[in-house]
Amino acid sequence: MESKMLPVMQGDYQLQDYDQTAKEFQWSEAEKEFSWHKTGLINIAYEAVDRHADSYRKNKVALYYKDANRKEAYTFNEMKRMSNKAANVLRNHSTLEKGDRLFVFMPRSPELYFSILGALKMGTIVGPLFEAFMEGAVYDRLSDSEAKAIVTTPELVGRIPVEKLPHLKTIFLVGENIEEDTLHVDFMKHFKEASPYFQVEWMERESPTLLHYTSGSTGKPKGVLHVQEAMVQQLQTTKWVMDLKDEDIFWCTADPGWVTGTAYGIFGPMLAGATSLILGGRFSTDSWYEAIQDYGVTVWYSAPTAFRMLMGAGAGPLEKYDLSSLRHILSVGEPLNPEVIRWGMEVFKLRIHDTWWMTETGAQTICNFGSLPIKPGSMGKPVPGIEAAIVDDRGQVLPPNRMGNLAIKKGWPAMMRAIWNNPEKYDSYFMNNEWYVSGDSAYMDEDGYFFFQGRVDDVIMTSGERVGPFEVESKLLEHPAIVEAGVIGKPDPVRGEIIKAFVALHEGYEPSEELSDDIKQFVKKELAAHAAPREIEFKDKLPKTRSGKIMRRVLKAWELNLPEGDLSTMED
Ligand code: WTA
Repeated sequence: MESKMLPVMQGDYQLQDYDQTAKEFQWSEAEKEFSWHKTGLINIAYEAVDRHADSYRKNKVALYYKDANRKEAYTFNEMKRMSNKAANVLRNHSTLEKGDRLFVFMPRSPELYFSILGALKMGTIVGPLFEAFMEGAVYDRLSDSEAKAIVTTPELVGRIPVEKLPHLKTIFLVGENIEEDTLHVDFMKHFKEASPYFQVEWMERESPTLLHYTSGSTGKPKGVLHVQEAMVQQLQTTKWVMDLKDEDIFWCTADPGWVTGTAYGIFGPMLAGATSLILGGRFSTDSWYEAIQDYGVTVWYSAPTAFRMLMGAGAGPLEKYDLSSLRHILSVGEPLNPEVIRWGMEVFKLRIHDTWWMTETGAQTICNFGSLPIKPGSMGKPVPGIEAAIVDDRGQVLPPNRMGNLAIKKGWPAMMRAIWNNPEKYDSYFMNNEWYVSGDSAYMDEDGYFFFQGRVDDVIMTSGERVGPFEVESKLLEHPAIVEAGVIGKPDPVRGEIIKAFVALHEGYEPSEELSDDIKQFVKKELAAHAAPREIEFKDKLPKTRSGKIMRRVLKAWELNLPEGDLSTMED
């Protein structure tokens, strides 16, 4: 095993050894940095922003923002004032109260970050929505959570089906020349005039903060509810895993529509008082390398799909930029191929550190952290304070090198506290009231390293984004030509998986290239571009159980030329 491990050094930078910490660590120690120790009350936005604005970090840059049109920098003191202004706008122009749900639905921009932090200062629960979501996806999330308000832009507002959302009382529009009425509020107009002072609402450590909707293999997207206490683990992992120091420039490439973009795109680094870069706009090799060079990014958190795209772009672009500021690189969201790690060693002379966690875990749990030797292909070991195991389907812990369910011992600080409106679903995640069962299959080797093997269920990971096949299938069934639909993830060298749909057509429709394109467009327009199938295969009939459930594993077996397995439950 030793020979396969990568060197401990990151370039000439020595990462810390946390071996002893892992043995002795208690979460109760980690929270001492926060104010609730003194007062019993807390607010994550205060801890992330105001605490530093009132310290020696007052004039330190908290956030660099760059896109095609804007290039800005905000110190911690400015972040405090801006988030206060946002809080005042949100409070003065809506009926939002503590615990109400406010969604943010817009491309990355400073105002998006001000709004999230401002809403949290009011004690509002924030539901981040990815900008690519179309009407159906927006409706499902707003109606399930009975959202009262949303912050969006004139370009996206048409995707909010107001007439079907009786609880939605206020739409804040971030743009120019907004016409106001009883529903619509001109965010920027009021923001300019708003007071930069705001009295933060003090919350309990178990008070909800964020509601991230995520996909499972069945049913509609589920609202994963997080609480204030998550900040303890977000800060602690930022120290151990991201290794952030006061002088670092940190760049997390994820959008706040996904959990990585809030936990580590906002909270981790800000709680640590570090400087973050937010890059707006879409991925491009040049703009990414340029951002690292121009801002002198030192710590970089991204995803395997992005690394594979950069890898695919070859050496040409690499020669144009000076990327020598980088000292630490991390990855999340999908299996990190050893090939990508090798590429990282070659072009950056750095190990890429894999991190494993989920929307439901709220923060990093299994990682290549500190100076832990890396075994390429393994996502590392549980961070101090986390207990992980491989369990069988009855919740019994399995010995090393046996494949099973990857599980985490219940009760870590960032653990989700509820599935919105769905206590049965929440309970179904836990086995014997002891283990949170992740839905991933994995094994642990004799040294305690975990190796990801795949999903236990049919959830698709495409370009690091989690897509529930049921949501796509439901949308496909709304297409007039389709009578049956089954959706699977098909392995893809760059994206990890792509979405492939098998469909059967109503009488009177014939398979064709045009129909295939039309179906793809339909899902793109109604659900989201990243959820649209890239491949469609027409079938006369789909494999179903006698109770009528589409057998996705049979579709997958067809696709991969594998044996179909047990067909005893299949209809004739
Ligand atoms: C997958 C993203 C392999 C996994 C933070 C998990 C990974 C799902 C890794 C959660 C990794 C995440 N190696 N697979 N390092 N990290 N995954 O909720 O299947 O969007 O269950 O959270 O991504 O995706 P989610």
